[in-house]
Amino acid sequence: MDHYAVIGHPIKHSLSPLVHEAFAKQTHQQLSYTKIEAPLDGFEETVTDFIAQGGKGANVTLPFKEQAYHFATQRSDLAQQAKAANTLVFGADQSIYAESTDGIGLVRDLTHNHQFNFSNRTVLLLGAGGAVRTILGPLLHLNPAQLIIANRTKNKAVALVSEFSSLGNDPVIKAIGLDEFPNQSFDLIINATSVGLTGKPFTLPAHLISASHTWCYDLMYGLDETPFIHWAKQFNPAMALDGLGMLVEQAAASFNLWRGIYPETKPVIEKLRSKLF
Ligand code: ATR
Repeated sequence: MDHYAVIGHPIKHSLSPLVHEAFAKQTHQQLSYTKIEAPLDGFEETVTDFIAQGGKGANVTLPFKEQAYHFATQRSDLAQQAKAANTLVFGADQSIYAESTDGIGLVRDLTHNHQFNFSNRTVLLLGAGGAVRTILGPLLHLNPAQLIIANRTKNKAVALVSEFSSLGNDPVIKAIGLDEFPNQSFDLIINATSVGLTGKPFTLPAHLISASHTWCYDLMYGLDETPFIHWAKQFNPAMALDGLGMLVEQAAASFNLWRGIYPETKPVIEKLRSKLF
């Protein structure tokens, strides 16, 4: 039997084992998938031990995604853009291949599960940290009409724009501070900040949402409505989605990389949601 794991710190609440067990059952694959909590200063040792025990691949979560990228011996284009990896594949030749499937997961959830069409659409991306780095390439690849990155620390958004602008046709991509929102609503607003983690309320100008056409997507998910989705729903957005679908989709892309088969995600998303809520 092949062994896989998700490595993070903390890891207790990870849903990844449930997702991958469901994929394995659905596709009749013999594998095990466990959670491993690596010490904060012991990521590389933990991976090395897991490989020595026969590990074939791993998902990597906070706070080790950048370390996973650096530890790898080969890196996909998306991992190189993100400078981070959430998926590792361990080769028989000692190689460690790094991939970043978070952006693929977000885009698949939006376009495949919910039929969002990016062409001619305006996108507002909130945040400029690691999460944004992982999704920016796949989002720009879909050529939205406009993509604005808004961040509390504007300089970080500016730096991202100059790094990624070659992927979008200028002036498609632009950086602003949180006090510089344009006087327009957006077709899609994505929350990639960590604001929701603190449980503090989320407040943005109401005019960013138009009830007829704005979709709101939070990379976060949880037992309760996330603060961003809670804020958005006051203005009746056309769609409000949390990141549970993205979680399952990024896992499906990892599973495909390891096993060469793309599992069906819809039943797994439904099962998780019914377990969570
Ligand atoms: P992650 O890897 O999850 O993206 P991160 O790199 O720490 O985490 O980035 C967190 C993001 O949330 C950043 O964009 C951060 O803004 P700053 O760059 O100004 O720090 C944003 N963020 C965190 N707390 C925030 C708050 N209270 N209000 C607005 N933005 C916040």
